[in-house]
Amino acid sequence: MTTESGHIIVRTVDTIEDLSVVHALEREVWGGDDLVPVSLLRVMASEGGGQVLLAVHPDEATPVGMAVAFIGRRHAKWYLHSHMVAVKASFRGQSVGRLLKYRQLEYARASDLAYVGWTFDPLQRRNGQFNLNVLAGVAKEFYPNFYGPLSDSINGAFATHRLFVEWHGQQIGRTASRFVAIPDDINRLRREHSDKARRWAERYQRKWGRLVQAGFGAVEVVQGRGGIWFYRLQRIWDERMSGNAN
Ligand SMILES: CC(C)(COP(=O)(O)OP(=O)(O)OC[C@H]1O[C@@H](n2cnc3c(N)ncnc32)[C@H](O)[C@@H]1OP(=O)(O)O)[C@@H](O)C(=O)NCCC(=O)NCCS
Repeated sequence: MTTESGHIIVRTVDTIEDLSVVHALEREVWGGDDLVPVSLLRVMASEGGGQVLLAVHPDEATPVGMAVAFIGRRHAKWYLHSHMVAVKASFRGQSVGRLLKYRQLEYARASDLAYVGWTFDPLQRRNGQFNLNVLAGVAKEFYPNFYGPLSDSINGAFATHRLFVEWHGQQIGRTASRFVAIPDDINRLRREHSDKARRWAERYQRKWGRLVQAGFGAVEVVQGRGGIWFYRLQRIWDERMSGNAN
């Protein structure tokens, strides 16, 4: 099955040839040694009930993005776990990412799965904007150092703290807010001031742990006075969200 947006076509893939292209995109975006091998992509795409997507630019037959998901179970609900979504750097900001995510949502709904869920690094401001502002996901669980050290080009040797996003494809109502500051560009800090990047990670571990325990979840990235970025959090009590109504 294929979907189109502008010139980009997204299709589900399961052949070794196409999965090797997905793997090459993964290597290009993350690098390092922690890549998902083609053999495992093949199982996820064909037998595991998962979905592997490839976005291509038809004029040039260029692969421009990919998404890899499998079925997960959390708080007694089956959901589609999106393990990776990536768009080639030169094609970012052109809606390819959201096209891939909406294909995942469509698949989750067609498969009677409760939602699409995934982890993301809360220190990556633009990923926060993509997950919360663009898609309207809600992040209400914090996993300290979830993957251990990954040592790829994005995570380096830093602790891999993650927020878990639940995406039901619908907005939730607004309630009283709390705010957590976000570094403007954690990638630059990791490259140029690793001590500061480490302090941010430590601060996040303390702060998010407390807020999440008090029932708060991140719903939006906002920019305050002086250009500083924040997560806007609110108490999440929505019967669709897992952990609330099981
Ligand atoms: C996150 C990602 C998949 C988004 O794909 P995309 O095609 O740029 O997304 P869209 O064009 O649909 O949406 C753009 C929004 O994504 C966010 N975004 C995150 N990273 C971005 C980037 N490097 N360039 C442009 N937009 C980015 C922005 O909020 C942007 O919204 P804005 O235009 O209002 O600022 C892509 O940036 C990427 O591949 N990043 C590297 C890999 C990664 O971190 N994947 C997610 C974790 S698995």
